[in-house]
Amino acid sequence: MAQTDQGYSFSKFAGLDFYAEVNAATLDLAQIGKQRNIVDLSCGPGAISKQILERLEDAKHSVIYAIDHSAAALRDAKENIGERTDTAMKYMQGEVQNLSDLLVEKVDSVVYFNAIHYVPDKVALLTMIRDAIKPGGTFVFNSSFFKGAHPPETDLFARKWMMKSLRMLKRDYGLRATRADKTEARQQLTPEEYYELLREGGFEITAEEIHRIEVPIDGWYDISGFQDFIEGVMPGVPLEIARECLQKACKETWDEMGLETVPRNWMMVVASRA
Ligand SMILES: C[S@@+](CC[C@H](N)C(=O)[O-])C[C@H]1O[C@@H](n2cnc3c(N)ncnc32)[C@H](O)[C@@H]1O
Repeated sequence: MAQTDQGYSFSKFAGLDFYAEVNAATLDLAQIGKQRNIVDLSCGPGAISKQILERLEDAKHSVIYAIDHSAAALRDAKENIGERTDTAMKYMQGEVQNLSDLLVEKVDSVVYFNAIHYVPDKVALLTMIRDAIKPGGTFVFNSSFFKGAHPPETDLFARKWMMKSLRMLKRDYGLRATRADKTEARQQLTPEEYYELLREGGFEITAEEIHRIEVPIDGWYDISGFQDFIEGVMPGVPLEIARECLQKACKETWDEMGLETVPRNWMMVVASRA
């Protein structure tokens, strides 16, 4: 999703303070920094690799594998991270589903942030991740796309925002969202379903937390522009049109309700390879 469609970039969102904080909290939970060989899976524009680099206890002998299927994301990551002389950064283009083909040796840790919800076959994914990690190594992921991510008190904001967007779509473009199956990325699991899958996949859960994050307007505005979000809430509508309606409606709803932030829950899970 880094630059999924028409160049719409994830970099701006990845630079927001609340996003850096939630990812830092997840890295803290997994004590990332002690390990030497770390995969930043679906690395996007490199914000997570950058944080990992700052935490490495033995930077000189460490390797970070930054992997993403998007060439644009990897370009952004290289640019954001810059040349490193202290730590080996290896950028690799590929699908998470092919992780075992990408890595030649097992690693101490796989860090997988804000992307696990994209992969429909999580059993196969976890098997592959487990195979990539040394025994006793760490797998850590976080996500705000799970069942329970929206605190109930945010329903009113969500409802008003969506109603306004759909009205705008009809009034300004004569369009309606078509009823269609939600994209697979949006078929969300509960935290308990994730824990169960991990245990079945040969992991032991060592820490799990759900953080309530206060997301500012910039965060919601950017989320309204992401392709996978749009496909979930306005299926069948051309992306540019859907984005315009969702973003405009987001700002108007925000102002009408006099909001400062709207919270969203982030799930963080650390597991050890049995
Ligand atoms: C929301 S961004 C998260 C980026 C980064 N992990 C972070 O937390 O800031 C999701 C990333 O997953 C990548 N991605 C999605 N599906 C993928 C797949 N099947 N294989 C590899 N990368 C994938 C996208 O290209 C995008 O860069």
